[in-house]
Amino acid sequence: MATNTGLPSFTIRAITPSETHDLRHSVLWPDKPLSYIQLDEDDEGHHFAVFIEGSETPLLPPNLAPHESSATTVTPQEQEKPVSIISVFFADAANQKKEARFRKFATDPKWQGRGVGSALLRYAIVFAVTEGAESIWCDARTSALGFYQRFGLDAEGEEFLKGDVPYMKMSRTLP
Ligand SMILES: CC(C)(COP(=O)(O)OP(=O)(O)OC[C@H]1O[C@@H](n2cnc3c(N)ncnc32)[C@H](O)[C@@H]1OP(=O)(O)O)[C@@H](O)C(=O)NCCC(=O)NCCS
Repeated sequence: MATNTGLPSFTIRAITPSETHDLRHSVLWPDKPLSYIQLDEDDEGHHFAVFIEGSETPLLPPNLAPHESSATTVTPQEQEKPVSIISVFFADAANQKKEARFRKFATDPKWQGRGVGSALLRYAIVFAVTEGAESIWCDARTSALGFYQRFGLDAEGEEFLKGDVPYMKMSRTLP
């Protein structure tokens, strides 16, 4: 997906569970063992990622004019690595896809705040709708509530902790 709005040029595609592990671990739970971010149900999930495309044009950090930018060089090796990931699970993958759950959403800190996470969440919501979902939900880090609210999700219930990180359940009925 090429853009001319200040976003980097990127593609979104499905990935395998093991391709999510590095970002899940480094962004979400760096202090936990790798096994902590591997889910028993990963094989039933749908995993999507953003990959930055190569570009001869320097990628601009947000709000910088070209002359203010230090060009972001994306090497071929970096283009192979996801920069943002999300996983989608249905309540009963075989028969019941009315309720979709998003899990383990994370963007590489180097790429945060540049729109790739929003693009990926939008993609995942469209995927869920296409599969028949009538609602979506996630356990959201309280620090990300504002981000999810812009996608129409509302917080419900009390705040709770996973490890020492505060979370709230958020959900939205789909049109
Ligand atoms: C939450 C997360 C996945 C979002 O991914 P992201 O790629 O940074 O998302 P975006 O860049 O689309 O949006 C992030 C912010 O940058 C802003 N932004 C996006 N593009 C921008 C641009 N071109 N210029 C300026 N700001 C921009 C967005 O408005 C948003 O603002 P907010 O912080 O007030 O919500 C990411 O911040 C992350 O990994 N956080 C740590 C882990 C985490 O909390 N995961 C969610 C667990 S529930």
